[in-house]
Amino acid sequence: MSNQLEKVKELIALREKARLGGGEKAIDKQHQRGKYTARERIAMLLDEGSFEEMDMFVEHRCTNFGQEKKKVLGDGVVTGCGTIDGRLVYVFAQDFTVFGGSLSETMSLKICKVMDKAMKMGAPCIGINDSGGARIQEGINALAGYSEIFQRNIMASGVIPQISGIFGPCAGGAVYSPALTDFTLMMEGTSYMFLTGPKVVKTVTGEDVDEEHLGGASVHASKSGVTHFTAATEEEGLALIRNLISYIPQNNMEKTPVIPCDDPIDRVEDSLNEIIPEDPMQAYDMYDVIAAIVDNGEFLEVQPQYAKNIIVGFARFNGQSVGVVANQPKFLAGVLDCNASRKGARFVRFCDAFNIPIVTLVDVPGFLPGTGQEYNAVILNGAKLLYAFGECTVPKVTVTLRKSYGGSHIVMSYKQLRGDMNYAWPTAEIAVMGASGAAAVLYAKEAKEAEDPKAFIAEKEAEYTKLFANPYNAAKYGYIDDVIEPRNTRFRIIRALGQLATKRLVNPAKKHGNIPL
Ligand code: HXC
Repeated sequence: MSNQLEKVKELIALREKARLGGGEKAIDKQHQRGKYTARERIAMLLDEGSFEEMDMFVEHRCTNFGQEKKKVLGDGVVTGCGTIDGRLVYVFAQDFTVFGGSLSETMSLKICKVMDKAMKMGAPCIGINDSGGARIQEGINALAGYSEIFQRNIMASGVIPQISGIFGPCAGGAVYSPALTDFTLMMEGTSYMFLTGPKVVKTVTGEDVDEEHLGGASVHASKSGVTHFTAATEEEGLALIRNLISYIPQNNMEKTPVIPCDDPIDRVEDSLNEIIPEDPMQAYDMYDVIAAIVDNGEFLEVQPQYAKNIIVGFARFNGQSVGVVANQPKFLAGVLDCNASRKGARFVRFCDAFNIPIVTLVDVPGFLPGTGQEYNAVILNGAKLLYAFGECTVPKVTVTLRKSYGGSHIVMSYKQLRGDMNYAWPTAEIAVMGASGAAAVLYAKEAKEAEDPKAFIAEKEAEYTKLFANPYNAAKYGYIDDVIEPRNTRFRIIRALGQLATKRLVNPAKKHGNIPL
């Protein structure tokens, strides 16, 4: 065999060795845990055969605790780039079979390299986390490595989309990289995220809690809102990331590609003309409205289990990707509260950062009153949503379906927050406050003196409702651009988005605003 052929053979052998990561035994153990390996995950995430791996020969440089004798090619993370539906993405996937996927100095260098490339090329960066945290043997160098990653997460924010998949442990300071990215997806049952684990919790606070209840997928999906998506299987999770990518652009200078649409743009939905219940206190399901108007009824909901009184997610109108923000009358009557405001604001800011138009569907009775909300700074949290909509320069189409009262009316992408096209259904009630509240305040004195105070107030309520609980009062002032037939909503939104495609609006030059955090 020639010298050259021998070198080629050696390369092939080295590659094979690197692809085995921590070895067959560790791979078996990973499979027994119900988890795939880093390379298997990347293969499922990317278009077949598109992965180009980088740095598979990198080894750690640590000499503490005899580490110099324990080197693994690739050092615990698989990095590179590939395509999703033909579009370039950069990826890193921590390899739990090597030192539990723990982060070493060299591992952080590998991750930073793909992050830098993603920034330079203007492509999304997807990280699959499955790690025991800082590599304990490396001490402070591992911490420096995390810091380098966090700094890059911060600089990439609003420039390229960043997505984190949590496919195993993610604990301690390591959680801050996913937290800094745009979207987090957690695996149900096999992943967890927390700053301090159950043992430390027990020592410090005396609280008994297991990993799942402290930081499992369901906790972060429903209680904390830390994760935007969950998935029951790794296949489902990786497919979800692929789907998410289809709705978002490569970077902040591009728009999401428009995909061919076979759903007629002038599809009339008669059911919408009768969807609003007679009784204003009765709920209907906003999901039915969304499904009726978007292309093929397809909706990728973000944070579906968190603050269910507001719905946010991605859909398409005539093939164009949009962000949908909608109050949900079926949950807490669609009221705005601290969590709903934060959820909405974060989503609106993502859409604005990445040139995704926003369609807002309004049915909001107001902000949730009470000490629970005030003590949790509903003022500041509500202001986040207000700020996000007001700051946003992407096309904004708003449709008011039913209630829209007071402050919550303004917050939900009102005309004066630079709403581009504000439509209302004939069932809309746009006023400073609800009829019962208004009558009680305006006629408190007269009601006391009336022969039948109850009947008197009811009469005044009816008067107020007639005068204000309609869309025409707002339309009279041009605050509503048009009152539309509900069944035409899809077509009207598509036509508006078409008109707004060339929208130009630039905010005043500044270093950055000071959103009420
Ligand atoms: C080095 C680690 C490691 C780590 C796991 N391993 N975590 N090696 N540094 N942080 C190694 C194990 O020694 C083991 O090696 C292999 O990975 C697999 O781990 P197991 O314990 O066998 O797996 P499992 O039972 O599934 O438990 C997983 C685990 C546990 C829950 C993650 O390993 C664990 O608690 N690890 C330590 C977590 C931790 O305290 N990390 C440091 C946090 S401080 P062998 O050779 O036996 O296969 C931190 C600060 C970050 O992260 C700050 C950032 C700003």
